[in-house]
Amino acid sequence: MTTPLPSRVRIIEVGPRDGLQNEATMVPTDRKVELINRLAATGLAWVEATSFVSPKAVPQLADAADVMRAINVPAGVTTPVLVPNERGYHAAVAAGATHVSVFTAASESFTQANVNATIAESIERFRPIVAAAQADGVTVRAYVSTAWGCPFEGVVPASAVTDVCAQLDALGIDEISLGDTIGVAVPADIEPVVTAAMQAVASVDRLALHLHDTRGTALANAWAGLQLGITTYDASVSGLGGCPFAPGATGNLATEDLVWMLHRSGVETGVDLDTLID
Ligand code: HMG
Ligand code: MG
Repeated sequence: MTTPLPSRVRIIEVGPRDGLQNEATMVPTDRKVELINRLAATGLAWVEATSFVSPKAVPQLADAADVMRAINVPAGVTTPVLVPNERGYHAAVAAGATHVSVFTAASESFTQANVNATIAESIERFRPIVAAAQADGVTVRAYVSTAWGCPFEGVVPASAVTDVCAQLDALGIDEISLGDTIGVAVPADIEPVVTAAMQAVASVDRLALHLHDTRGTALANAWAGLQLGITTYDASVSGLGGCPFAPGATGNLATEDLVWMLHRSGVETGVDLDTLID
């Protein structure tokens, strides 16, 4: 191996949001709250809790405010939430959110299916969110979905990733998570897309990888990310996950598999694997 691995990796647990948004049945609010509380007791410092989106779009997370008000996580654990627009932002902050994530994509068709807007329109919705967040002391992450491929358009050019990341950077977004929404990437695909994003954000510390595991390549792709110095990874307990608006999207990189690989490779995560598996 030529590149030294980072000594520590930050894991953003996305199961309660990316996982439960895609469940066929409604998970009761108290079960969601228990899941979040127990994940937050494993040493995970970031547990994405829910989404303040249209309940018509994602009925599974219509109880977002109730979930946020009921969770009880240790000090030092952040529970980010997804917000698609200013309305979602204000509802999230009213329910106690201190970190929000906005979301767009590198392909037009997916953005239309997901948020009923063009990429440009979706980013325009973020402008008042970022302004309010700066005033409120709330941090903002952005997801760029379909960075490695689109369920409707197929191959997505790396230049589209650069374009979207540049617009997000200009808005003042803190962190950008590059999404392999439908799990098509293989390890050799990671570097070109990360390089494309780096043309816009300059520092690898502001990038995260959000890898779906449709074809069993997510863990290998995370390994490729480590070689590039990326130290933030989204993962989902038991590999739950998917996007209702991305046909073919299945689960995320499983948190327990990522933690296992990292610990065995001498990389700290702060997570207790046995508690997580429990
Ligand atoms: P729209 O229909 O174009 O807009 O939806 P609208 O303003 O007409 O709103 C539609 C209805 O929702 C209205 O209600 C609004 O009031 C209401 P009605 O008048 O019909 O009764 N509404 C809201 N309600 C609660 N909270 C809100 C809100 N906003 C509007 N914030 C919209 C546009 C963006 C709202 C909709 O398309 C939407 O909510 N989309 C969310 C899609 C979503 O959550 N997708 C999954 C997350 S992204 C993902 O999984 C990918 C990721 O994991 C990374 C990766 O894997 O690549 C992050
Ligand atoms: Mg996802």
